[in-house]
This record gives sequence, C-alpha cells and structure tokens, in this order.
Amino acid sequence: RIAYVNGRYVAHSDASVHIEDRGYQFADGVYEVCEVARGFIVDSVGHLDRLGRSLSELRIDWPLNRAVLVHVMREVIRRNRVHNGMVYLQVTRGVAPRDHVFPANGTRPALVVTAKRTDPVAAAKKAGAGLKVITVPENRWERVDIKTVGLLPNVLARQQAKEAGAQEAWFVDPDGTVKEGAATNAWIVTRDGVLVTRPADHGILRGITRTTLFKVAEKLGLTVEERGFTVEEAKAAREAFITAATTLVMPIVAIDGQPVANGHPGSVALSLREAFFDVAE
Ligand code: PDD
Repeated sequence: RIAYVNGRYVAHSDASVHIEDRGYQFADGVYEVCEVARGFIVDSVGHLDRLGRSLSELRIDWPLNRAVLVHVMREVIRRNRVHNGMVYLQVTRGVAPRDHVFPANGTRPALVVTAKRTDPVAAAKKAGAGLKVITVPENRWERVDIKTVGLLPNVLARQQAKEAGAQEAWFVDPDGTVKEGAATNAWIVTRDGVLVTRPADHGILRGITRTTLFKVAEKLGLTVEERGFTVEEAKAAREAFITAATTLVMPIVAIDGQPVANGHPGSVALSLREAFFDVAE
C-alpha cells in the first residue's frame, strides 16, 4: 500500500508524521473520508466543500490548492488500485514546538492521504442483516459540525457499543433527542412513511451522505422532515437507519437491545441504499 505524506508517496508501512505534529499533540486538524465506487470518489465536491469549511472554521490554510488535492486523492486511489473502497485525508495545523497558540506564520499545514479497498459484497451482507445501536449521553463540544480529528468521545462511544454487542452509538441530548452516531447520521421512518433526521446545525456533522439522501428520497417520492426525534420515537418507528460515507445507508434493527419494528432491516432503508448510486455524483 502507498500513502501520501506531505508531498511524497511512500510505502504505507513506512508512512509517518513528526512527533510535534499538532494533530498528534492537540488533535489540531480536520479530516474527510470519501467512498470510492468503481474507481470514482463519491460526492467529491461535497466532501471538499466541507473540508474547506472545516479548515476555515479552524483558520487552517489549504495544504494544497483544491484541484491539486483532488489530483493527489486520485493518485493515491490509483496507486493502491482501489476500485471500491475509501480515501482518507487529514490536514493538521502542521509541525511546530508544542505551544497551544497557533504556530508562527509560514508553518505549513500537514497533509496525509491514504486509500484502502472495501468489499461491496460484505457491505451488502451487513446491510441485509442490519446493525444494532445503543444510546449514550451527548458529551461532545458544541462545534461537532467541524470535522476535526478530536474524536475521543466518539471513540469511547463506539467501544461502548461494541462491548454491548452493537455496532454504533447514538449521542442523545438530556431532553431525549437523538443527535447522531459516533461516525454516522441518524434517521427514522415514521409509521406514515416519512423520513426524519435532525437538522444539521452546529450540533451534528452535516453528512455528505445525508445531503445526497435528501435527493435520493425525492427521487423515490419520499418526504423528509428535518426535525429532532427522541429515542422513544425511534424505538416505536417503522424503521431506523444510519448514513455515512463508510456505511452508505445501513438499516438499524435494534436500539438499546429493543428491536425496531419486527427486528429486520426496513424496506425503505434498503430501497434508499439501492437507489443511492443513481443519485450520488
Ligand atoms: N464519519 N456524523 C459523524 C460524527 C461522522 O463522523 C460522520 C462521518 C458522519 C457522516 O458523514 P458523511 O456522510 O459525510 O460520511 C456523521 C466518517 C465516515 C468517519 O469518521 O469515519
């Protein structure tokens, strides 16, 4: 495997960053994960727009101009012969002696790009079985709309899910409304067949897959309501599912050990998954 690290293509096993990289010391960086399908980056415009927003919110410069960055992503995909898989990119504020304040002007942001293959057959099998989620209290900061590499609460929540025999954890506000998963957005389908997902304010990450799914829903003639929903409402819903570049549309079959509807993946979620690539760019 080949990785791109600050201007060089290197063997993945030898790829490394400096010990004074601010991403390593302060989680002072941002990232994107894009799906690669049939050799193409899915929704690359949306991902790069969001990267630009994350960078500007944290006042980190683009490490390369956008067109060159896309070229590097494609090159990493090509060199790793990824037909179906993921491309990961991470930008940090760069390497400088440890100090909380921003480093001196002229410190270059650090860029890492990797790619890996995934197995579409295994993913389809997973979707056919559905995933289980647990719920955990929201304990993240107020700006989770920025896709930073500071993911400790997400890591702990995912681990807690795993230890409970589930695959995802939903962060829940004190009033019982579901925010999003540790690395996915959360959706339900009501008894009336309406899709519901929380508004993308500063309280969740505005998923690129989520945005594309609005268009998929429209194509299938489904209504989407952007509003909060509670854990109770989700448990009583006709269906529940999650979205992310890594999972696309993935049905949820249990919440906190309680089956959603009959405990099998819902037909709406599965048809959204099926129709996804007709709409994604
Ligand atoms: N996670 N919410 C959170 C907290 C996420 O980390 C992600 C993505 C999403 C979905 O966003 P998108 O549809 O753009 O992938 C929502 C990536 C995949 C990750 O951390 O691996």
